[in-house]
Amino acid sequence: MAVPVVTIDGPGGAGKGTVASAIANALGWHLLDSGALYRIIAVAGVADGIALDDAQALVEMSEGLDIVFDDGQVRVNGANLTDAIRTEEAGNNASQVAALPPVRDAIFALQQGFRRAPGLVADGRDMGTVVFTDAPVKIFLDASAEARAERRYNQLKNNGLGVNLRALLEQIQERDARDRERVVAPLKPADDALIIDSTEMTIDEVVATVMTQISSKVE
Ligand code: C5P
Repeated sequence: MAVPVVTIDGPGGAGKGTVASAIANALGWHLLDSGALYRIIAVAGVADGIALDDAQALVEMSEGLDIVFDDGQVRVNGANLTDAIRTEEAGNNASQVAALPPVRDAIFALQQGFRRAPGLVADGRDMGTVVFTDAPVKIFLDASAEARAERRYNQLKNNGLGVNLRALLEQIQERDARDRERVVAPLKPADDALIIDSTEMTIDEVVATVMTQISSKVE
């Protein structure tokens, strides 16, 4: 039998990462944060002086990357990039490289390699629509742009970083538009996805909803 996969797609700031890791922990399954891969390519590309629209150079560079996810830490060719890939700039740059089809093709097999027993929880934008189309459980986790900007604002403020709520909202709307309107693997729910709007929900409520869905679909 195929190794089961739970896909959690949706726009940035909807809580996908937190929900995905809570589910993976609860089930003892593997976790794929696919957005981190695009962030790594963007950060490594900038460090190498590669233009963010130079698909060929980005693909060639990405082939030489040794990426290790270990206990919440991200190491690339031995360097710890855990914090560097989490900035707003890295997220915006990731969304630019993610719009290039050759870059998406280059990491397709790498992403599928995360599917190992006993199961995988994969979060991103196209996990259910492109990478794991046969996943028995597909979730599309949404929330209003305002709620997502406010969550991000509080998160950054708690980390002692000064931010502007309006600027955050604008960045979120810009990234949403780029992710939804791109030609290849645009952000949209899979036909067979359960759509959850988390605007008025707590993380625990979302996790409980997803766990119920998993119990009804996975043996
Ligand atoms: O989820 P995260 O904010 O880390 O993703 C960063 C960017 O990577 C997204 O804005 C999106 O453009 C891209 N991405 C993607 N496909 C995925 C995951 C992320 O295009 N499966």
